[in-house]
Amino acid sequence: MQTPYQTNAAGHLSIGDVDANELAQRFGTPLYAYDVGAMRQQMRDFKRVFEERHLKYAVSYASKAFATIAMYEVAAQEGMHIDVVSGGEIYTALRAKFPMADVSFNGNNKSVEELTMAIENGLGTIIVDNFYELQVLHELLAERQQTQDILLRITPGVEAHTHDYISTGQTDSKFGFDVNSGQAEAALQQALADPNLNVLGVHAHIGSQIFDVTGFQMAAAKLVDLVHEWDFEPQVINAGGGFGIRYTADDEPLPAATFVEAIIDTIAEKTAAYGMQMPAVWIEPGRSIVGPAGYSLYTIGSRKDVPGIRSYLAVDGGMGDNIRPALYQAKYEAVLAAQPDAPSDEVVRVAGKYCESGDVLVWEQALPKTKPGDVLAVLATGAYGYSMASNYNRNGRPAVVFVENGQAKVVVERETLADLVRLDRHYL
Ligand code: LLP
Repeated sequence: MQTPYQTNAAGHLSIGDVDANELAQRFGTPLYAYDVGAMRQQMRDFKRVFEERHLKYAVSYASKAFATIAMYEVAAQEGMHIDVVSGGEIYTALRAKFPMADVSFNGNNKSVEELTMAIENGLGTIIVDNFYELQVLHELLAERQQTQDILLRITPGVEAHTHDYISTGQTDSKFGFDVNSGQAEAALQQALADPNLNVLGVHAHIGSQIFDVTGFQMAAAKLVDLVHEWDFEPQVINAGGGFGIRYTADDEPLPAATFVEAIIDTIAEKTAAYGMQMPAVWIEPGRSIVGPAGYSLYTIGSRKDVPGIRSYLAVDGGMGDNIRPALYQAKYEAVLAAQPDAPSDEVVRVAGKYCESGDVLVWEQALPKTKPGDVLAVLATGAYGYSMASNYNRNGRPAVVFVENGQAKVVVERETLADLVRLDRHYL
């Protein structure tokens, strides 16, 4: 069976052609390590689908999955667009010198400060989510006698079968303009009548970690039906992100390109049927670009055997660097860095060091016998790991290294004890 990781001549886990044990030794644990080549490959695979069909497109990396200066640099180098969702992500992109024209800005409650930051820095496309935002944007732009390209985010009423917290396209959602009540059409008319707004098209994002193309096809078809009904010919249809990845052997994702082909085909067929021009197709993948490329390296410490029930193997990180198991009951797979392919001797629960029973990294993991000091690698942690990390229990966030062609480089420093109190002020 093909493993979702690589090994070197010594049989050790290898990340970007560097031995994972060596990474742990050199940079310490816990550590986030990214295989940069794998991320580049995924970005290129997405782009190729559009290039081969000679379509106008944007593959906009949904940077909420993992937003750092280095990541934005790699995305820019690969000719990607990026999607941001906060002033913090805008600022990070600016510091990375990311071309602002290739940035889109999503979010259901963008602040006046964030919108100001966007329009003053030439951010390409604002994906407008609600009427309040239409009003604020109008005022900011009119004051400056500026125009702004926008998309309208629509709630297409498509329910993606995924964990509740991460499905955003169904009708009962805080995101986007509602279709059934006529709000979406009213928003379009208002935006079209606004001389400061240039409506490029529409946007929908139906959810995350989706394995089936049907939801994407339904949402894309719905968007085309709607714009036709509204007598509006969009230059852009943005179908969002959410393409599922492999976390464990239970996950059997389609190649990311398959989702994109399904979206493109739907839009092409529907627009042709209505006699409309084929618009540019934009997508916003996050997880599928960075998820499988990321590894979390930990050092194994204590162990607790509960006779007849289970054994807990504790590592030096946990819910502070990966909240997903605790928050979404997310499943992961882990291997020993020194012998990822070794036959297993037992099934353990991999727990963290945080003071909470739900602090689990892997619910059930088959492993060979381990000892304190061994390095454990949790696979496919590149998306929503670092980006959702916290300082819970006053633990510093791990360092992030980018590894490529046998070279490793720190792109986010490990937080020190001094960092943890940097913003604290004495009261007495
Ligand atoms: N576009 C929009 C408008 C989104 O809201 C999202 C994700 C994406 C694109 C990218 O979705 P992706 O391709 O990464 O699945 N923290 C959760 C995921 C939240 C996703 C939120 N929106 C998790 O750890 O699973």
